[in-house]
Amino acid sequence: MATRLGILLSGRGSNFLAIHAAIERGELPAEIALVASDRPEAAGLARARELGLPAAEVPLQQGGAAAQEAGLLAALEEAAVEWVCLAGYMRLLSPAFLGAFPQRIVNIHPSLLPAFPGREPQRQALEHGVKVSGCTVHLVDEGVDSGPIVVQRAVPVEEEDSVETLASRILAEEHRAYPEALRRLVGGGWRIEGRRVVFGESARPEIDRPTPGL
Ligand code: GRF
Repeated sequence: MATRLGILLSGRGSNFLAIHAAIERGELPAEIALVASDRPEAAGLARARELGLPAAEVPLQQGGAAAQEAGLLAALEEAAVEWVCLAGYMRLLSPAFLGAFPQRIVNIHPSLLPAFPGREPQRQALEHGVKVSGCTVHLVDEGVDSGPIVVQRAVPVEEEDSVETLASRILAEEHRAYPEALRRLVGGGWRIEGRRVVFGESARPEIDRPTPGL
């Protein structure tokens, strides 16, 4: 059965579209069960509707952040979402929300974390003078861009780069990294060791491994 993804976005939605395209190409055994946004005017939400995907507006209203999050959670539960993918979602999630999807909330950030978390990471990278930057897909924990790393992809920083040119070089890699990370995560066979996400053979529990010498 295809894994049910819920996408949260606040803007353009190009990462959402990259995930959708990977599913359509048969590269990711998942389906988009819901695209939800805190911004009714988000371009990504309009694209979701054009594509015929379930879409929900959950804006901040009088009830404040807690009510907005409760509305979001209800929409995700109603859509039977299994994994939550943050794709340019500009609101922080509370510990209670994280607890509703333990180790099943994923984010993408346009820097090689732990360098340059938070706002304007491409500008931070240029101002710091790094020669390499990139993107990071990570599991979401209670910090800002601080959860266990799933996939990273690097790009060179060129002498003549502006924030825009660097952002667009990184974005092209984001569109590869996010579907790849989701493919690895929804496939299972991984575990968390300390801060590390460990995949493959070594991700199997000890009990399943053949005893050496037998
Ligand atoms: C991306 O750069 C992503 O890494 C960051 O927000 C941006 C969203 O872009 N978290 P898009 O809406 O997916 O095009």
